[in-house]
Amino acid sequence: MRKGSPIGSSTRLVSSPRELLVTTALPYANGPLHLGHLLESIQADIWVRSLRLAGHRVSFVCADDAHGTPIMLKAETEGIRPETLIERMQAEHERDLGRFTISFDHYHTTHSPENQELVLAFYRHLEQGGHLCIRTIRQMYDPKARLFLPDRYIRGACPRCKAPDQYGDSCENCGASYDPTDLIDPRSSLTGLPPEARETEHVFVRLEDFKDLLQTFVHQGQLDRGVQRKLDEWLASGLKDWDITRDAPYFGFPIPNRPEQYFYVWLDAPIGYLASFKWLAHKHPELDFGHYLKKDSPTELYHFIGKDIIYFHGLFWPALLAASNFRLPTSLWVHGFLTVGGQKMSKSRGTFLTACEFAERFPPEALRYYFALKLGAGIEDIDLNLDDLIQRFNGDLVGKLVNLAARSAPFLGRGSIGHLSATLPEPELYAAFLREREAIVAAYEAREYAGALRLILDLADRANQYFANAAPWKVAQTDPEQARATATQTLNFFRLLAGYLKPVLPDLTQRIESWLDAPITHWSELDDPLLDRPIAPYAPLLTRLPTRSNPPSLPPSTTAEDTAVTDIKETIDMDCFNRLDLRVARILTAERVEGSQKLIRLTVSLGTEERTVFAGIQAHYAPEDLVGRLTVVVANLAPRKMRFGTSEAMVLAANDGTTGPFLLAPDAGAEAGMIVR
Ligand code: MSP
Ligand code: ZN
Repeated sequence: MRKGSPIGSSTRLVSSPRELLVTTALPYANGPLHLGHLLESIQADIWVRSLRLAGHRVSFVCADDAHGTPIMLKAETEGIRPETLIERMQAEHERDLGRFTISFDHYHTTHSPENQELVLAFYRHLEQGGHLCIRTIRQMYDPKARLFLPDRYIRGACPRCKAPDQYGDSCENCGASYDPTDLIDPRSSLTGLPPEARETEHVFVRLEDFKDLLQTFVHQGQLDRGVQRKLDEWLASGLKDWDITRDAPYFGFPIPNRPEQYFYVWLDAPIGYLASFKWLAHKHPELDFGHYLKKDSPTELYHFIGKDIIYFHGLFWPALLAASNFRLPTSLWVHGFLTVGGQKMSKSRGTFLTACEFAERFPPEALRYYFALKLGAGIEDIDLNLDDLIQRFNGDLVGKLVNLAARSAPFLGRGSIGHLSATLPEPELYAAFLREREAIVAAYEAREYAGALRLILDLADRANQYFANAAPWKVAQTDPEQARATATQTLNFFRLLAGYLKPVLPDLTQRIESWLDAPITHWSELDDPLLDRPIAPYAPLLTRLPTRSNPPSLPPSTTAEDTAVTDIKETIDMDCFNRLDLRVARILTAERVEGSQKLIRLTVSLGTEERTVFAGIQAHYAPEDLVGRLTVVVANLAPRKMRFGTSEAMVLAANDGTTGPFLLAPDAGAEAGMIVR
């Protein structure tokens, strides 16, 4: 920590650096990443970045999950080798993850020599520990496609409720789970033919051997209670032996001494976490693979996963680790599913968005921000609403946050370059903002991002209020130093908030850091405000997102007519123009009108009097962002009775019939009541 920091203290923030290994689940290499995948990688990335800002050493790794029947079949359909397919997919995945600034230290593939070596070692340990058994099973075989069918490739009627066309492992109608051999009238989804049951000899892991250990793992206290309950249920109902064998043709690692047989993809996938880390550790001598993986390691190991793969990570994976005498995960951080409009993402409904499609239409950080707004530590599903996303991006980030910089920068001018005051006018207020850091950092660490953002947005409101109350435009002409001091204070609030947001919005914060020429690599760098230094001219940091499709049309006469931009109207003379009384107005209060999707009720000051105005601007402005700002109104328009009350003036705003309206705002120096002409 820096010495002699005058205001803040961050001793708690640097207490004993921890060493962590963090992973996200390995995406299958048979398709593009979609927004569901991103929910997980963004959640994990925010966590990792916040821990790094606290000075901890985090290794964050992932890989593509490259094996299995679907990948083999997809390559076949494309007429290429699976190796070619997975190489292409990995490049695409890494590109997409980069766009969303997921800060993996390494992204590997399970189809790698490192992984194969580890898988064989795990297998040997299972064998030597006596945890394997060999059994003959009946397996569904498609004689035309000439392969054993994974459960998902067999469909038929549910043996319990008789619902037609269910998967081979479970019924989507009644929830029953069963063996594919139980299905009524089963069909291969590859050929439509009834599969034959064939006998084959498979290797199984005896999970019951690990029951006590798993019980302890499940109850070590860090797991989410819902997750714990699920695992408990499975443990109580008895652990079935786990089939780790697949018959040729298959894309995977061959099992030693078992011709024509391969390890099941779910055996080598989690081991892929370690392969990725091993590769990373090999490049970085300060990372010691053995130190991280040994039993009783002081390091921490966390897996971010979706709720659909709890069984694999809560039971199989700890059993595998234990059999190899490795440490167990410190915890599993499980999240719910992303839905769109309350429903599963679906290609047919048009609600399936790939990472790439999103990045082409929106700034990736809008998604990071939106997910953070919705994420807590629980396993509830999270719903995406793109209109909501746009509104929060515009309202919170452009309206509340970046606005602080945009509004204060004009008052920092000294010649062509700006300069910050030598002291803060309100150091106590800065200190108060700084004291919130502990709660914000704690919320990040607890994966309560929604809570962290609530604290940050509250501070943003307070910063905007400070600026509005200090009203530097009033003194800009008479006392520019006072205006500069207000702007310096505001800009330091802005930087502090940008720092708090860095785990969520690393790109935006990075741009702010370079503008201000003040890096934020550790929370403690926010202790000292920036003072008495030159500051580069302000350039817009974010642009408002256009609202989608049909913006709600405006109610008549409350803002300028909602006509599309067309030809210029007929010429008028000066007399005609002079009959209009346009005034600068300050917005004193703003609230949504109950029962209206569009209207905001404003009280505005025209200097000498106050008016009530209804403005159809709800789509683009949050009421709380409007309070304090100046705009322009037509002051002599006949009052107009509306369903919700009488509008006593008209606010001027710009629009082109598809986007907008955008309120007009006078330059710094203007005051309420001034005549616009
Ligand atoms: N390959 C396995 C994981 C192996 S880990 C050793 C797998 N891959 S996956 O591509 O299907 O899913 C990867 C991760 O994305 C999983 O944690 C999964 O829960 C998550 N998600 C996939 N779709 C999702 C949503 N719609 N919403 C949220 N997460 C989702 O499973
Ligand atoms: Zn059923």
